[in-house]
Parts: sequence; structure tokens; C-alpha cells
Amino acid sequence: MTPPDYEYLRKLLRDHSGLDLSADKQYLIESRLLPLARKAGLPGISELVQKMKSGSASTISQVVEAMTTNETFFFRDKVPFDHFRESIMPEIIQARAGRKSIRIWCAAGSTGQEPYSLAMCLKEVSAALAGWRVEILATDLSQEVLEKSKAGIYSQFEVQRGLPIQMLVKYFKQTGELWQVNADIRAMVQHRQLNLLHDFSQLGVFDVIFCRNVLIYFDQDTKINIFNRLAKATEPDGFLVLGAAETVVGLTDVFKPYPERRGLYRPSGARAASAKPAAGAAVPKVAAMVGF
Ligand SMILES: C[S@@+](CC[C@H](N)C(=O)[O-])C[C@H]1O[C@@H](n2cnc3c(N)ncnc32)[C@H](O)[C@@H]1O
Repeated sequence: MTPPDYEYLRKLLRDHSGLDLSADKQYLIESRLLPLARKAGLPGISELVQKMKSGSASTISQVVEAMTTNETFFFRDKVPFDHFRESIMPEIIQARAGRKSIRIWCAAGSTGQEPYSLAMCLKEVSAALAGWRVEILATDLSQEVLEKSKAGIYSQFEVQRGLPIQMLVKYFKQTGELWQVNADIRAMVQHRQLNLLHDFSQLGVFDVIFCRNVLIYFDQDTKINIFNRLAKATEPDGFLVLGAAETVVGLTDVFKPYPERRGLYRPSGARAASAKPAAGAAVPKVAAMVGF
């Protein structure tokens, strides 16, 4: 790969997915894109770049998908799910007792372990949610991970990462060497492809947003832009949950940290200077919800 090829790919990835690669990540590009080039019958990355430059939209989207990091597992980092059970849900159940509905958005849900962990948490308190309408929306840039998430089928290795055995037995069905999330839990999660760089205002407003381990790959301006728009997508008394290495502190004051709960934030009511999307088109509003 020549230096101009690398610069072309860096810019393309920043523009299409927000991925902010430093100047020394050639090895990462090579390890992820060489297999893609070979699969397309091309000798190397320079030829892949030529194909993208000739306007092949499918090659561009394959390259963008290949460069995303989809690492996830059930109840990842544990603490956010403790916050969900111990702080978020008790407050929401009280605050929404009148309208009896709750909207949750996993804004980079990857292969589904995060939204299904939330669905299982909610199932565990289903007595308190009897008669409520519950929506969990899982979105991701990558269509490939969304397909896996929709199927809800995981290997033995994947269900052994983070998932308590009692939950495996209670909420999964074994088929051969694989495990599938039970249909009632799958039905609680809707899926939609969504690029966080694009406008998401039409999704409406959520009580809880999990946006974990994705902003870490973006540059500062992109993070600020997304935080500002996430604040508009969060109910004034709602919650934002970020990943362990992510924070709003020092970037924007549209969210404020929830006291003594690491990674948990609430809208501050401050107005963002600009909350226009970084790029792209609007997505249609989600309507369907599952009744408990
Ligand atoms: C490391 S995974 C995090 C999954 C999950 N939130 C967790 O914490 O376990 C990051 C996910 O973000 C997605 N992603 C990357 N760029 C994105 C973008 N611009 N818009 C939406 N999703 C994106 C990737 O496809 C990937 O599935």
C-alpha cells in the first residue's frame, strides 16, 4: 500500500464511519483489507483502492464494514447493567408510571449481546412492567452484525463470555453446538441499520440510550457532534450510558455525570451550539413496540 493509498483510506473511513485512524495504522488496514482484496480477486490493497476510486459503492461499504471493530459480549463490563437495574429502571418505572412505556436505544448494538442483555434484565422485572410497552431498538452501521443480532444465535464461546449460567438456561435454546436467544426475548429487540454520523432525529426520543465502545474510535469533533444530537434524542429525565473508556467530560456540557455512577449521564438541559448531523440522510421513525 502506497502512502497516498493509506491517506485515501484514512479519509474515506473518517467520512463514512467516523473511524479516526492515526498515521501509523497501516498494519491494521492490511490485516483487515488484504483478505477482502483477495476475496475480490485483487492482488493487493492498491487495486482495492482503485476499485473504490472508480465508484464501486459495494466495495466502499465492504471496506467500511471490514474496518469496524465489532467486539462485544453479554453483560459487558457488568457495571452498566448494575446501573441499569439499580438506578435507571427504578427511576424510569416511577417516572413513567402514568404512560407505562419505555424506549431504549442501543446505538451501536453490534451482534446483539448488549440489547439482549438489556432485554433479559427487563424480563427479570417483568412483574413490575406488567401492562407496559417496552421498546429496545438496536442499531449499527454494519448490516452483517445486525443480521447476526436478529438471528440471536451464538456459539458456546460467545455464551460463556459474561452470561450467567442461570440466564443461559432460562433465556436460550440449545441447537447442536449453538445457542439461540428465546423468541420472546428476540421479539423485544428491533433492528435497524444506522450510521451515527447521519441524522437520527427521526428515531424520536428515548428514555435510555446505551452508546458504548463506539465513540472511542472517533475524533473529538465527531464525538461532540454526536453527543449534542444524542442529548436531543434523550428525554430530559432520561439516561445516557457510555463505555468504560468514554466520557462527555471536557467535550460538552449537554450531559452531566450521574453522581457516583461511572459511565452514566443525564441531559443537563444545556443547549448545544450546533447539533446538525455530520453527514447523510434521515431514517424513518420506529413505531412497533412489544407489550409486556
Ligand atoms: C466495539 S462494538 C461495541 C458493541 C457494544 N456497544 C458493546 O459495547 O459491546 C462497536 C460497534 O459500533 C459500530 N459502528 C462503528 N461505526 C459506527 C457508526 N458510524 N455508526 C454506527 N455504528 C457504528 C460497529 O459496527 C460495531 O458493531
